Amino acid sequence: MSDKQPELPNRQTAFTEAFKEFIAADWAPYSTELPARLAAAEHTQPRRDAVSAAYPGERLVVPAGGLKVRSNDTDHPFRPHSAFAHLTGLGADREPDAVLVFEPIFTEGDGDEVEDAGHVATLYFKPRAPRTDPEFYADARYGEMWVGQRESLEEMQAMTGLPCEAISELPAALSTNTDRIPTRVVRGVDDRITQLLDELRRTNEVDFDPCTDEEFAVMLSELRLIKDDFELEQMQLAVDATKVGFDAVITDFPTAVAKGRGERWCEGVFALHARHLGNDVGYGSICASGDHANTLHWIRNDGDLRDGDLILLDMGVEVDTLYTADVTRTLPIDGTFTPAQRKVYEAVLAAQQAGIDAARAGATFHEVHDASIRVIAEHLHAWGILPVSVEESLDPVTGGQHRRWMVHGTSHHLGIDVHDCAQARKEFYRDGTLKPGMCITVEPGLYFKSTDLLVPEELRGIGIRIEDDIVVTADGSRNLSQA
Ligand code: GLY
Ligand code: MN
Ligand code: MN
Repeated sequence: MSDKQPELPNRQTAFTEAFKEFIAADWAPYSTELPARLAAAEHTQPRRDAVSAAYPGERLVVPAGGLKVRSNDTDHPFRPHSAFAHLTGLGADREPDAVLVFEPIFTEGDGDEVEDAGHVATLYFKPRAPRTDPEFYADARYGEMWVGQRESLEEMQAMTGLPCEAISELPAALSTNTDRIPTRVVRGVDDRITQLLDELRRTNEVDFDPCTDEEFAVMLSELRLIKDDFELEQMQLAVDATKVGFDAVITDFPTAVAKGRGERWCEGVFALHARHLGNDVGYGSICASGDHANTLHWIRNDGDLRDGDLILLDMGVEVDTLYTADVTRTLPIDGTFTPAQRKVYEAVLAAQQAGIDAARAGATFHEVHDASIRVIAEHLHAWGILPVSVEESLDPVTGGQHRRWMVHGTSHHLGIDVHDCAQARKEFYRDGTLKPGMCITVEPGLYFKSTDLLVPEELRGIGIRIEDDIVVTADGSRNLSQA
């Protein structure tokens, strides 16, 4: 064995004692003025109350998630888990490694009785280190010199309205005073937290059943099915920003055609506005020209734009509170539909209108799809494409032929996630009743691949989807993306 000292990584130079002393001194003190409460945080208490009421006497752990390596020492931009954002009001890139913990509280009842008295929800996160700490200058992931000034405990408390503790206190908080408290955690978000809880369970310090974790995730997903007024305002802001992005992309079609790789140009122009007006795009933009439109999630976006072709643009801005729009328009690149393109476009538009008309309080979610897909099947039949009758194709047990040309559903819930409430139970989602405050997309399409020998040649290579974001109201619906 060599007796050489371990070396620093190849790019680094050791910090001298002189530097360590020098770097810590002569900075202006941090401001003592506390930041304002986040607008979103003003609306989170009723959501936490609902969680608390659902699980009396249990400890509930909702991690934000951590930074994820993209490559070597560069991370993906951070985005908190949606349940964490919904319950804390923290959006944008806040707060890696944070965890929201609902600790049950008990009061003495009559005699020996112990009564459940709700929960205290505490936000554990990594507060900024003092400038005397090497983190300040030497930690490229968290240090102030590298990623900017982060919040103190008091500042985070002011922003969220939640009592805050350092994340370093969390292991002790989860393992002390347990009395084998039944504990639930949102899994798949932060492995360190789930491993810690799994270990405590193994050593019998907490009572833990992974099945109840699944049920917890379902509850948190269903909690987002109905949006409050603040959420609907945020959705409208997301849609309004999305319109700015769409307009800029459409204005730039001639440039996109001229430059080559025009799909990328469209993606980039939209991304510029998404980052400028919001947090980011809410999902990978689909900029699909010509036959690419027939690949439902075409996000490679490396094709050319050609006059005479259509382009399907499925794009949405996610605002800083993380609510996202999800809008699709399919447009002729040179401004004029061919007769064949128009014929398909009008069929999809009629299908969409039927879906929007069906989206009203009291209807079931799947009735929106049923209404749209019937119009799709009728057009396919009228054009001689469908090999069976409309009714035969719509038979859920023996039919389904029309799905060759629209294999996706017509709608999904929309909110903090583009496919929001994804873990909700079927009886509250597909078979659920639409209620005022629900926000769904209506997005039928027709997709005729260039290789599809069952469709007339003039339709091959045409793919069209039209998607709007609809809020169910007491007396019908409101189309957030009509503009
Ligand atoms: N952009 C994905 C979707 O429309 O569901
Ligand atoms: Mn959608
Ligand atoms: Mn979409």
